[in-house]
Amino acid sequence: MLVSSKELLDDALKNHYAVGAFNVENMEMVLAVLAAAEETNSPVIMQTTPGTLKYAGVDFYFANIKAAAQRTKIPVVCHLDHGNSFELAIQAFHAGYTSIMIDGSKLPFEENIALTRSIVDVCHAGDIPVEAELGRVGGKEDDLDNTKSKNPFTDPQEAAEFVEKTGCDFLAVAVGTAHGVYKGVPQINFEVLTKIHELVKIPLVLHGTSGVPEDQVIKCINLGMCKVNYATDLRIAYTHGVKEYIKGSPDGFDPKKYGAFGMDEVKNYVVQKMNLLKN
Ligand code: 13P
Repeated sequence: MLVSSKELLDDALKNHYAVGAFNVENMEMVLAVLAAAEETNSPVIMQTTPGTLKYAGVDFYFANIKAAAQRTKIPVVCHLDHGNSFELAIQAFHAGYTSIMIDGSKLPFEENIALTRSIVDVCHAGDIPVEAELGRVGGKEDDLDNTKSKNPFTDPQEAAEFVEKTGCDFLAVAVGTAHGVYKGVPQINFEVLTKIHELVKIPLVLHGTSGVPEDQVIKCINLGMCKVNYATDLRIAYTHGVKEYIKGSPDGFDPKKYGAFGMDEVKNYVVQKMNLLKN
């Protein structure tokens, strides 16, 4: 069942759990995430970045995710991750995406507010919720490169003002995580997160969760993180599965065969994360 993220994340906030948001990049990843959601009976957010959308187009990803959603009674959200322009956000909205992120975090504060507000105005008219970002989550995801930023934390007072002025439904905040593969163990600033949670009353979003130790993820959920994003580890899992198949069958040439190996690994990973997020 294709649903909006609004009711799911408001319920998660009220009942202190989180919904997993998994980046899908091909049909096999959509099927694997769907299988994991069914096995664990978990609502799920499937999301695509601008880089992914460049690969096959908004219409193709929406059709894949919608087809998956129609096969199940489990709530499935189709979410735009890190929407990087007004045009792309509106394109996804018109394509049928049921949740939109606009990421103006690289812009000056007032410009981020103005861009986010303009997306909120359009999306709310169609009952579609909006995730925004304030502060810089570090690392690199597709074309979004924050490797050189100093990963400054989100300012809690600014976060409260930002939510008030934009009317956004969920807020991604920078508390020490980064996109991509961590070089060491990530250090989440729980003091900053606690202050944000005190001042901001909407669901918060944790980006860059691949590689974050599970106890830190649980602590984040207890401090208001209601949407937890995983991308890098799904890519690694899929590719590992494909490589394993090729290793065992170097003469194989059927994409369905190696795709199945990739799917299996993604499904196993997502099942594990879905069980974690319920706690
Ligand atoms: P990771 O690639 O670190 O899991 O981050 C995912 C993410 O935040 C997607 O927006």
